[in-house]
Amino acid sequence: MPTSHDGENPLEKRTEKRSDAKERRTGVLSAKESLSDKKSDQSLRPKMLAEYIGQARTRAMLEMSIAAAKTRGDALDHILFYGPPGLGKTSLSNVIANEMGARIHLSSGPSLERPRDIIGLLNQVETGDVLFIDEIHRLSRIAEELLYPAMEDYVIDLTAGKGHATRTMRLALPKFTLIGATTKAAMLSNALRDRFGFVCRLDFYTVEELALIVARTAGILSVSCEDAAVTMVASRARGTPRIANRLVRLVRDFAQYKGHEVVTEDIAKQALETYQVDVQGLDPTDRRLLTILIDSYGGGPVGIETLAATLGEDSDTVEDVYEPYLIQCGYIQRTPRGRIATPSAYAHVGRTAPGGQLSLNLQPGQNI
Ligand SMILES: Nc1ncnc2c1ncn2[C@@H]1O[C@H](COP(=O)(O)OP(=O)(O)OP(=O)(O)O)[C@@H](O)[C@H]1O
Ligand SMILES: [Mg+2]
Repeated sequence: MPTSHDGENPLEKRTEKRSDAKERRTGVLSAKESLSDKKSDQSLRPKMLAEYIGQARTRAMLEMSIAAAKTRGDALDHILFYGPPGLGKTSLSNVIANEMGARIHLSSGPSLERPRDIIGLLNQVETGDVLFIDEIHRLSRIAEELLYPAMEDYVIDLTAGKGHATRTMRLALPKFTLIGATTKAAMLSNALRDRFGFVCRLDFYTVEELALIVARTAGILSVSCEDAAVTMVASRARGTPRIANRLVRLVRDFAQYKGHEVVTEDIAKQALETYQVDVQGLDPTDRRLLTILIDSYGGGPVGIETLAATLGEDSDTVEDVYEPYLIQCGYIQRTPRGRIATPSAYAHVGRTAPGGQLSLNLQPGQNI
């Protein structure tokens, strides 16, 4: 599996606000958190940096900054984590609080709609605390404006009364660390983004990193797994720890049902085939997207709206849910004229690529 990210920087790409994509993929490969993920989550979430696998650059930067802040006895600078679902944004935020020995207050953009929501939250914060706001791109305008001085100068401006009688009162806040997480960095306003000291993109994980996560999860869940089975599960987990953990649970259930105590490579293979997860971690919808692109539109270029309509999904869902991993695999490229299927996409769905496709000679993950 390619390990580089898709070459696209959503921070630079779009600044307009868009409606959230509703993820319709409900199968085992959804990167969104399911109820059963939530249940097993507490035991599986890494607690300290040493247990947090992968994201080497981000981890190294955090290690340094945490050590420096602790030496100074200071709060850490505000941090924004962005990247596709299930890559470990929430986990890393908890790890940071643990490493700092700080309390963490968990909140999310949609729950901070009214001024009193954000004021109430900031009121609870004590010196050095971490304030975690998930889905920060969904903060209301009012909440966002209240946050600016809180982030910058650790003060909050309260207004009372109406019209001529309006009075503003400035309250000092203790020094805290705001950690924002989002899957849609492009939807954040520039003003909010610029107030974070660190802006970190979490990348898809390599198979080797995922194998470490799979082995760790199998250990915590007391599942006996052969090394070859660990690698197989890791290589089909779409570069995403949440999916890796879910596949471990599914493979465990399959083995148990079939009466096997140890998950061998063969058992893992049978289990993954039963759940329709192919060798590259694609599910039937991903494969349908590729075959539509190839069979109905000659491999592209085709506009996202047309492609989404043929697939029966909305374009936001295709762009935010299906495409990132297909681009990461080097199967799709975004071009100014629309999406095109790469020669490896043709090979993956058993079609022969026309000569013209090969002449593009793009690397996996590279866009024009
Ligand atoms: N680096 C990692 N090492 C080990 N396990 C990890 C790592 N990152 C994530 N996980 C596992 O994957 C699960 C999903 O991670 P997490 O909930 O932090 O993702 P997220 O990026 O916050 O997703 P979302 O965008 O949906 O909120 C966690 O419960 C944890 O068990
Ligand atoms: Mg999260």
